[in-house]
Amino acid sequence: MFKGRDVIDVDCFNKEELLRIFQTAESFKEILSRPIKKVPALRGKRVCNLFFEPSTRTRISFEIAEKTLSADVTNFTASTSSLKKGESFKDTILTLSAMGIDLYVIRHSEPGAPVMLKRYTNAVVINAGDGIHAHPTQAILDGYTVWEKKKDFTNVKIAIIGDIYHSRVARSDMKMFRILGSEISICAPYTLLPKDVENYGVTVAKKPEEAIENADVVMGLRMQLERQSSGLFPSLREYNEMFGITPERMKHAKPDAILMHPGPINRGVELDSYTADATYSVIPEQVTNGVVTRMALLYLLLGGVQIEGTD
Ligand code: CP
Repeated sequence: MFKGRDVIDVDCFNKEELLRIFQTAESFKEILSRPIKKVPALRGKRVCNLFFEPSTRTRISFEIAEKTLSADVTNFTASTSSLKKGESFKDTILTLSAMGIDLYVIRHSEPGAPVMLKRYTNAVVINAGDGIHAHPTQAILDGYTVWEKKKDFTNVKIAIIGDIYHSRVARSDMKMFRILGSEISICAPYTLLPKDVENYGVTVAKKPEEAIENADVVMGLRMQLERQSSGLFPSLREYNEMFGITPERMKHAKPDAILMHPGPINRGVELDSYTADATYSVIPEQVTNGVVTRMALLYLLLGGVQIEGTD
């Protein structure tokens, strides 16, 4: 059902398949608490991590997931490759594929780079974030985190606050939580909303308090200064005053609401520091869940061998 499938965005999965990924991730969680965190599920499979853009969480969690499943891992770094000598993207991929890669993980600043990669390889491709387009594995780890905490999606309200226009995470999350049947309310300065927001099937709130009202999940998004031209909002201080997630604003959410953020965080901008570290924050758990959900995806897409003690 999953073997050989490419993951360009999260809508390549239906609700049943997303739940199957979450269940597989759940069964893998115990492996990470073993003294020897290694199982032979992907022994003999070659995985290449192609990172053309900076990353901490996604790059390292993919590498840990691959190594935990015993895949043979190669890390390609654009800045030290023959791209620097003028070799094209196409020739780079043809060269790597000639070495027998089974699966590529790609992060790139250009939307569409994973589709371009697929033109030159028969290997499985996982998009690890392409420009402002999509970040499906972040959405899957976010979905798994909500599933773990709330055990449901259909009676769950998700509030997403921040720089939605530049956020591939928000685009993939909105798609995924709609597939799962959740209610979604978003809030951003007008200049940081997608131009086609009416096609997203979400409610657009004017104020963060309105979006957060009765929410089960409050998700802050990073202000993506590196992707912005100037003049989209007056200043970071004013942005924080009007849209920052604070303890006062969190009081509008349900008493058992959780706070999420894909990271990295700009403390004092989209989240104040107290909120980021509060007991309702599940940001560190999101990072842990990034490892097990990526293990689940790699296992399902590469047709890994059954592991004793997992489903
Ligand atoms: N959430 C996320 O994609 O973080 P990194 O850029 O550190 O991978």
